[in-house]
Parts: sequence; structure tokens; C-alpha cells
Amino acid sequence: MTRAAVITIDGPSASGKGTVAARVAEALGFSLLDSGALYRVLGIAARKQQLNLGNHQQLAQLAADLKIEFGNAGPGSVWLNGEDVSLEIRTDAASKLASEVGAIPAAREALLQRQLEFRQPPGLVADGRDMGTIVFPNAELKIFLTASPEERAQRRYKQLIAKGIGAILPDLLRELKSRDERDSQRAVSPLRPAADATILDTTRLTIDEVVTRVLVLAAASMGDGTP
Ligand code: C5P
Repeated sequence: MTRAAVITIDGPSASGKGTVAARVAEALGFSLLDSGALYRVLGIAARKQQLNLGNHQQLAQLAADLKIEFGNAGPGSVWLNGEDVSLEIRTDAASKLASEVGAIPAAREALLQRQLEFRQPPGLVADGRDMGTIVFPNAELKIFLTASPEERAQRRYKQLIAKGIGAILPDLLRELKSRDERDSQRAVSPLRPAADATILDTTRLTIDEVVTRVLVLAAASMGDGTP
């Protein structure tokens, strides 16, 4: 049996990895894992149930029981227990909750198996923080996207405004830096490039340029078997 190829795209928030991962998956006909969405859904599910995040066992149980559906109401849609949470998981409050639950080892452990199940033929593009280091350490290609915090805050600002969600740039920058700090300093699965990752600084690149570079690297790493 030939194993499904995996391309991991890790990096800090608003580095462009979500958009790049979706475009690369589409170009290759691969499925897509937005692992951040899993942490976001877990965060808001915990809040809805008024669960104390200090109770790691209950949080792990909640993570194991979550009924999450991706893409059933169009690309990028996310449903939790039959409710459309696509917009709710993208709010700042949900980002913060995701980063808090992401620092809890029992929650990460509970979400690990779910993430592995996304690996289906012909292949998977997985985006997150620890896709290349922990979840898919044997991936065919590992990319780590970075960009300056200022550039990333600008991108997030434009995204939110375009969706009609109010945002204040200096607040976004401050929140983004503190989330970077929490994600990189935590004891479990900290945000860092895998030793064998290709690092792409996207500060001065367009999305199209980044996608093209990743596709060139994908073709080289997967040889002629690539669709
Ligand atoms: O990628 P996104 O911004 O949606 O991720 C939200 C938060 O979820 C991150 O700040 C991080 O704390 C957490 N996360 C994680 N591991 C992943 C993906 C996301 O800890 N693989």
C-alpha cells in the first residue's frame, strides 16, 4: 500500500500558512488539515460548557468527544455539535482560548489521533505549529513560514475588516506578540521549525509567490508520483 504523502506548513499566526496550505492542497488535490481550527473549537467548546481549563482530565475528555465537521457547509466552514462556528472560532477571544488549551499536554494528546486521521491518499497538507515536529515528523516536505510581527498584524487586520469584524491594529499587534511568546515558550510542542524544515520569510512575498515556491519544493520532494 502506498502511504499518503504529507506536506506540513507550520509558522506563527498570520504568517499566511492557512491560505497557502489551502491553495497548495487544492493545486495537488490533497486534503487539508487546519489544526489551529481544532484548538479553536476545543477552546470555545470548553467556554460554552463553562469548563475550568485547570481540569485537564475533563478538557481531554471534551477534546475526545467533540463532534467537529469541516467543510460541510462550503470551504473553510467549521461546525461543532451541529452548530456553525466558522465565524466564532476566528474571533480574538477564540484565538486566545486556543492558545491556552494548546499549552495543556492532555488536550494536545487528545487531539493528536484526530489529526493523524486526516492523512488519506493521495495526500495531506497540514497547517499548524507542530505539524512537522510532532504530528507528522516523517512528512515528505516541511515548510516553516515566518513574517515580521508588524506585517502579520497588518494582514490579520485586513482579514478581520474584510469580514466585517471590528479590529484595532495596535491591539492586534500586542495580542499577536503575546500569543507568539506563549506558543514558542510553552513546554509541550513549542512553535519552532523542524530541523529539516525549509524556512520561508513571507514578509515581502505575495501569497502567489509563496504558493509557487511551495509547489516547486513539493514537486522536487515527491518526484514524479505527484499529481
Ligand atoms: O493557527 P491558528 O492561529 O488558528 O491557531 C490558534 C492557536 O492554536 C495557536 O495560537 C496555538 O496556540 C494553537 N495551535 C497549536 N498547535 C497547532 C495549531 C494551533 O497549539 N498545531
